[in-house]
Amino acid sequence: GQDGRVARIASAIRVIPDFPKPGIMFQDITTLLLDTKAFRDTIDLFVERYKDKDISVVAGIEARGFIFGPPIALAIGAKFVPMRKPNKLPGEVISEEYSLEYGTDTMEMHVGAVQAGERALVIDDLIATGGTLCAAIRLLERVGVHVVECACVIELAELKGRDRLGDKPLFVLVNAA
Ligand code: PRP
Repeated sequence: GQDGRVARIASAIRVIPDFPKPGIMFQDITTLLLDTKAFRDTIDLFVERYKDKDISVVAGIEARGFIFGPPIALAIGAKFVPMRKPNKLPGEVISEEYSLEYGTDTMEMHVGAVQAGERALVIDDLIATGGTLCAAIRLLERVGVHVVECACVIELAELKGRDRLGDKPLFVLVNAA
């Protein structure tokens, strides 16, 4: 059942203390990718949820949304659209700035990758403060795309990133407290 799969996924995620700096408990999904059953189950759980939701766009956030997004997109018959760090995409882009702990960052998407009226799923490995997902939602909504839901493997619920998404639904597999 789903719970057995989620338990295995949770235990396949390695936690590395004090990375990249003291006090941060880094949620390392590279060990999940080494467990072929847990990795497959991760993709399957998302595919089961999204396959009949009329989604034509899976928007994956750099960098680890690029690992989970494409297999989901292929399985549900949607296109994959990368949401990238600044100055990486070669074509015409639209950009959205968002705040970090210190300073700001920018997310970019190719103009023409999506059309107004399309239905999108936004995928990333993890939600912390929610700022990254918010920027992705804003980018897609600016061009008239309907963001059906955001999905992450891991939620750091203590940081209340979910609240920042407002009414936008968020689906996660594992809560890392
Ligand atoms: C991490 C994570 C999310 C983001 C979540 O990415 O993969 O993309 O932070 O944080 P937030 O909810 O507080 O916005 P990171 O900044 O490590 O970038 P990377 O994936 O390119 O290494």
